[in-house]
Amino acid sequence: MRILQDHGLQDEKLLKTFSYINGSWHSSESEFDVTNPANGELVASVNNAGIVETELAVKAAKDALKAWSAKSANERAGLLRNWFNLMMQHQDDLGRILTLEQGKPLAEAKGEIAYGAAFIEWFAEEGKRVYGDVIPGPSGDKRIIVLKQPVGVVASITPWNFPNAMIARKAAAALAAGCTFVVRPATLTPLSALAMAELAERAGIPAGVFNVVVGEDSRGMGKVLTQHPDIAKFTFTGSTGVGKTLIGQCASTVKKVSMELGGNAPFIVFNDTDIDAAVQGALVSKYRNAGQTCVCTNRILVQKEVLAEFTEKFATEVEKLSLGNGLNEGINIGPMISKNAVSDVEKLVNDSIAVGAQLKIGGKATEAGENFYKPTILTNVTNDMPIANNEIFGPVSPIIAFDSEEQAIQLANDTQYGLAAYFYSRDIGRIWRVAEGLEYGMVGINEGIISNAAAPFGGVKQSGNGREGSKYGLDDYLEIKYLCMGGLNK
Ligand code: SIN
Repeated sequence: MRILQDHGLQDEKLLKTFSYINGSWHSSESEFDVTNPANGELVASVNNAGIVETELAVKAAKDALKAWSAKSANERAGLLRNWFNLMMQHQDDLGRILTLEQGKPLAEAKGEIAYGAAFIEWFAEEGKRVYGDVIPGPSGDKRIIVLKQPVGVVASITPWNFPNAMIARKAAAALAAGCTFVVRPATLTPLSALAMAELAERAGIPAGVFNVVVGEDSRGMGKVLTQHPDIAKFTFTGSTGVGKTLIGQCASTVKKVSMELGGNAPFIVFNDTDIDAAVQGALVSKYRNAGQTCVCTNRILVQKEVLAEFTEKFATEVEKLSLGNGLNEGINIGPMISKNAVSDVEKLVNDSIAVGAQLKIGGKATEAGENFYKPTILTNVTNDMPIANNEIFGPVSPIIAFDSEEQAIQLANDTQYGLAAYFYSRDIGRIWRVAEGLEYGMVGINEGIISNAAAPFGGVKQSGNGREGSKYGLDDYLEIKYLCMGGLNK
């Protein structure tokens, strides 16, 4: 096992390199390297689990289910609260591990730890409110009783762009509902997941309740997690393409699924709005995590009367963003996750310029390193250009002009995706019309950051199904059971 020596953690024991199965750290025969996307340096070599370890984790989760689901919601809440407290106590170290493996600026990484921990806190409380129902029966001697029960073993596959929060958001809801959990995190960013497992153990969460399997055999491990008969529910965050394959695999055992998939978020700036506020909203919504977020603004639609003003002010702010290693002070934009991710963005930009888009700023890689791409703005874009009709997942803002409210809604909805949308307006009638007209699961109105534990996160159309976070987020981990009680008459 090789570990970079100077990663500067206060608690070195948080850097784990083995899968966590049934409360133990499990070694495998081979290893794979986790590198820092900012400079390509080794962060750690991690034991490479596969199908066998994944099956062991499912068995552990199955074996732990009875005792965990039999605990009272209060007991589970106590353990989840311990986990939340530990994550917040170790926020600095967890943030550092996250930046080392994923690249986002340290302040943003620490923000992600607080965001992830907030789901654990939220669901610890919400798990106490899994209410049933008593419904008057169809005849006097009957009553209908509705119970909510945990679905069972939950399996999940989580992405590299939020290596902590995407696990926390799923696991917290599952555990609070009384389910047990197996996660396969992205191999680019397994260390955050393993650090969470270390803290789950310290929090007293029993063996088998939370399992993390890290390994490169995405296909083989994915098949176990989507097809194993002992798994009742599968949840995934990632691309729409992969999500479709996984949904298909889940069909063989009719699993309950929830999917948080790709997006193509429009950010609409109407002529009645406060342009400075819209510029700030677009800036955070577009450039956080170097644009590698499913809910990131993907297209900026601006009404013609305010196009020039918005574009100039926005460009001035984007020019100020500083690019570099996320561990350095004052960095706003870290590296992209890989060289391939940079080439994909480069291609979308170049292909769109070839059909008429104009480069306002940026548009190229930088001396900062091969995984960096300059914050970019393209103008003169139309909705049919590659940069507008693909999920960019990079720091590029295409600006599209529009004439009327109807046209803005039509352009915004003209996509297979329906995750997040944003718009800026101060006209109350317009706000209702546009909010209701947008075919999206989440809409930010005069707001560029919409994610928080109390809100139902999720999409419509090909952006997925199910909701994470909020009081609705528990439903995805619960089954409804109906009891028909008869013979009540004397
Ligand atoms: C995502 O990119 O999938 C999640 C973003 C968020 O939770 O804000």
